[in-house]
Formats: sequence, C-alpha cells, structure tokens
Amino acid sequence: MSRVLVSGGCGFIGSHLVRRLLREHPDLEVVNIDLLTYAGRPENVADLADDPRYTFVHGDIASADDVARAAEGCDGIINVAAESHVDRSIMGGDEFVTTNVLGTKRLLDHARAHELRYLQVSTDEVYGDVEAPHRSVETDPLHGSSPYAASKAAGDLLVLSYARTYGLNASITRGSNTYGPYQFPEKLIPLFTTNAFDGKDLPLYGDGMQVREMLFVEDHCAAIDLVYHHGAAGEAYNVGAEHEVPNIETAHRIIELTGADPDSLKRVADRPGHDRRYALDCAKLRALGWERRTDFDTGLALTVAWFRENRAWWEAIKSGEAYADYSAKNYGARG
Ligand code: NAD
Ligand code: TYD
Repeated sequence: MSRVLVSGGCGFIGSHLVRRLLREHPDLEVVNIDLLTYAGRPENVADLADDPRYTFVHGDIASADDVARAAEGCDGIINVAAESHVDRSIMGGDEFVTTNVLGTKRLLDHARAHELRYLQVSTDEVYGDVEAPHRSVETDPLHGSSPYAASKAAGDLLVLSYARTYGLNASITRGSNTYGPYQFPEKLIPLFTTNAFDGKDLPLYGDGMQVREMLFVEDHCAAIDLVYHHGAAGEAYNVGAEHEVPNIETAHRIIELTGADPDSLKRVADRPGHDRRYALDCAKLRALGWERRTDFDTGLALTVAWFRENRAWWEAIKSGEAYADYSAKNYGARG
C-alpha cells in the first residue's frame, strides 16, 4: 500500500481526483486535507466516508502542524487546494497569498523533509493571455494577470525552485478552464447553468469574445493522476482541451441546453485585467500517454444534466448569506 495526501479534496477538482485515485489504484490510500472554506463541501465526497482507504483531515495547508498531522505515513502529496476564483482575488483578500503561496511552501517543506513525491496542480492562467495563433508551451515565461494567477505563478516558481535547489521530486500540471459536476456556482458554466434554471440573468463580461479552453473534469483528473505517477522531476505539463471556445458561444450552448430565454443573456461591465485568450500546447502531456476523451458537446450536456438533477446541491450554496454577499459585491456594481 502507498499513501498520498491530496489537499483540497472537498472542492470541485479535488473531489473528482480523490474518487478517481481510489477507483484506479486499489493499492493506494488517500488522505484528504481540506480547510472547508466556502468552496469546500464535505458532501462532494460523502460517498467515500465508509471507504477504509480514505481519510479526511480538517486542516489548513498553510499550517505546518496541520500538514505534518495529515501527511503522516504518506509517500507523496498532490496539492489541489487553492483559493481558485479570479473575481474574488480582484476583491483583494490575503487568502490568495496565504493558501496559494504560503500553503504551497508548507507542503513543499514537508515533502522535502520526508523525501516525498510532489505534484502541484496549477493553471493555464500563469501564462497570462496569449495572442493567436500561439499556444503556450511549458517553457514560456509566467505572466499572471489577476492576483489569483499571480499567486498560482508564485506557487509554480516555488515548486521549480525546490526541484532545482533541493532535488525535490516535484512536477506541475497546468490545467485549462475545467467544468463538470460539483463545480462551485461562481464559475462561468455552473453559474450560467443554475441561473438559467432559476430564470435569472446570465451576466456576460464585456463583449464575451474572451477565449477559454473548456476541459471536462475527468480528463483533467486523468492527467493529474498520470503526471503524479509518471511525470519527470522539475517539469511542468500543460493540460488543455486544445479546443477554443469564446464565452459567448458557451453561453449560447447553455441557453440551448437549459431552454432558457435568450434575452436572459446580459452584457455587464468587464472584469478588470481580463485575459483575452488562453491556449495550451499539450504535446508534452500526450507524449506521456494522455488524451482528451470528452468533447465539449458531450461534457457540457452531461454537466447541465447533472445540475438539473442535483438542484438541492447548488440551492444549498446559492441560498446562503455568504453567497448572496459575494454576488452583491461582484455583480452589484457591474450594471
Ligand atoms: P475549488 O475552489 O472548487 O476548491 C478548492 C478547495 O481547496 C476547497 O475544498 C477548499 O476548502 C480547499 N482549500 C482552500 N484553502 C485551503 C487551505 N488553506 N488548506 C486546505 N484546503 C484549502 O477549486 P477547484 O476549481 O477545484 O480548483 C482546484 C485546483 O485546480 C486549484 O489549485 C486551481 O488553481 C486549479 N485549477 C482549477 C481550474 C478550474 O477551472 N476550476 C483550472 C485549472 C486549474
Ligand atoms: P471563470 O469561470 O471565472 O474562469 P477563469 O476566470 O478562471 O477563466 O470565467 C471564465 C470566463 O467567463 C472568463 O473569461 C470570465 C467569464 N465570465 C463571465 O463572462 N461572466 C461571469 O459571471 C463569470 C463568472 C465569468
């Protein structure tokens, strides 16, 4: 038996990853450390509660004590935990630095002291926006535009420095925009889908021509699993859909799939510093054996169906006071 510490396993990608690791690797135990922030939902992994190979630890990756407690007996760490939402980072909270930078350092220090395998789950946003036809390659300079992206870039640089300076067996995945069941309804796809079901407006930032590569969560987790087990030390791997979609097209598809009123799509003031286009070259990851399995049509239909069938999950979030506060702050001033 080997054992891996996954951070952020009660969030969106983390919950799918924990489930996948237990399913695909019968000889692996998984410890999930999660602070249970607004985005951490124990119900996302409620089905794993009775699995003897799964343990949950309520803790903060920015606390060396919490990390040491959770990582006892582990041979590796996959750092999925983060403050993950660009709009919240623009509101200016310290937690982006505490979790995404200091939290990364705490995990790296533990991995270094105990000679563990380490994988950092990062994002295509570290490259900043890229002009067509360029697709970012792993050696491109890092240019995070938002405080979120900057904090993730800082995390990546720390990981690379630990690999080079201390010889830590550490790799990085840089995933593109990910979507699927259990995604917190602040991101584009779950927000628009749930607003559509409720007959509310779909607030499109600016002209809606910003381009994102939408990646189905299972494909993203397959890449994390592959790189954790087979990626090279000191290397980053892009994980993208290699299929670019402007936000306005994503919005129209959601309107079609939900049967929402097309007039519910409303242009609102743009996001400050908004990146225009992300695009990843994934040749390096494909050479390791990964390929995207779910195209956008299939993945989006599946996701919209999940939100239709799991209204209780997202209503519990959207009816809360914290969510209302965030919505008022983010959308209130946009007109
Ligand atoms: P999420 O916001 O849904 O979940 C984050 C999880 O981390 C939550 O469970 C939260 O409670 C936990 N967490 C936050 N701070 C913590 C702390 N200090 N200690 C322990 N746990 C803490 O995020 P997500 O969308 O699942 O993203 C997961 C990772 O993937 C992040 O590192 C993000 O940068 C990266 N990523 C996300 C996307 C995307 O489109 N969602 C794309 C590429 C990369
Ligand atoms: P988001 O899901 O926040 O992911 P990211 O900022 O990490 O790319 O946003 C995806 C795109 O959708 C991005 O270009 C911003 C845009 N967007 C809107 O137009 N309206 C919204 O209400 C949100 C949340 C995002």
